[in-house]
Amino acid sequence: MRKNLIVGNWKMHGSHAANAELLAGITAARPFGCDVAVCVPFPYLSEAAVALAGSDVRWGAQDCSAHAQGAYTGEVSVGMLSEFGCRYVIVGHSERRQYHAESDQLVADKAKAALAKGITPIVCVGETLAQREAGETEAVVKRQLSAVIHTLAHCAGEMVVAYEPVWAIGTGKVATPEQAQAVHALLRAQLKAATPHADAMQILYGGSMKPDNAVSLLAQADIDGGLIGGAALKAPDFVAICRAAG
Ligand code: PGA
Repeated sequence: MRKNLIVGNWKMHGSHAANAELLAGITAARPFGCDVAVCVPFPYLSEAAVALAGSDVRWGAQDCSAHAQGAYTGEVSVGMLSEFGCRYVIVGHSERRQYHAESDQLVADKAKAALAKGITPIVCVGETLAQREAGETEAVVKRQLSAVIHTLAHCAGEMVVAYEPVWAIGTGKVATPEQAQAVHALLRAQLKAATPHADAMQILYGGSMKPDNAVSLLAQADIDGGLIGGAALKAPDFVAICRAAG
C-alpha cells in the first residue's frame, strides 16, 4: 500500500510573519497519517528548516539549477538545497515550463541533479486546455515523463511524479476524479515499463485540490497525494487536505 504525500507549493507567496503562522498551524495539527511537505521560496528555506526541525513535516524548494555550480547568475544549485535540509524539489512545474521556456530535457536534467544530491524531485507533467481539447493529453504527458525516465535510467523509481493539468491550476476548475485517475493510470503504466518500483511510486494530483474535493480525488486507485497551491497558504485548508490523505 502506498502512503499518500501532500506537498504545499507556496509559489511566490509568503513573508516572515505569514510563514511563521502557517508553519505553526501545520505543525500544531500533527500527526498526520500521510507524508507532508512544504515547498517554499528559496529565501525562506532556512526559517522553514528551523520551524519544522524535530517534526515529521518535510520541506523543499520549487526549482533548482541543472548545473552543480558556476557562473549562472540567479540560479540555485541542488548542493545548496541539500545544505538547507531539503527533502524535495519541484521540477518542471507548468509555470516554469511556460514562463521560463523550460524544455522536457532541462526538466529531466534538473531531476537527475536533484537525485545526485539525495533530494527527491517532484516532476510535474500536464497538458494545457488546448492540448486536452485536441485529444493530445496522453501524448503530452507521456512525452514529458519519457524524457525524465530516460535521463534518470535505473534511478527513475526514485522520483515523485505530479500530474497537474494546466487548465486546473489556480483556476478552481478541478479535474474530475475519473479524468485524473485515467491519466494517473497511464503514467503508472509508463513507469511500470521503465522501473520495477512503479507500484511503490507516489503519483500526486495537482490543480485546484481543496478540502472539499480532496477525498474523492485521493480515493482513486493511482492518486497517491496532492501538490497543493492556493489551499496550501491557509493552515486550516492545508491541514484538512492532509487529514483527508491520512
Ligand atoms: P493550485 O496550484 O492548487 O492553486 O491549483 C497547484 C500547483 O500549481 O501546484
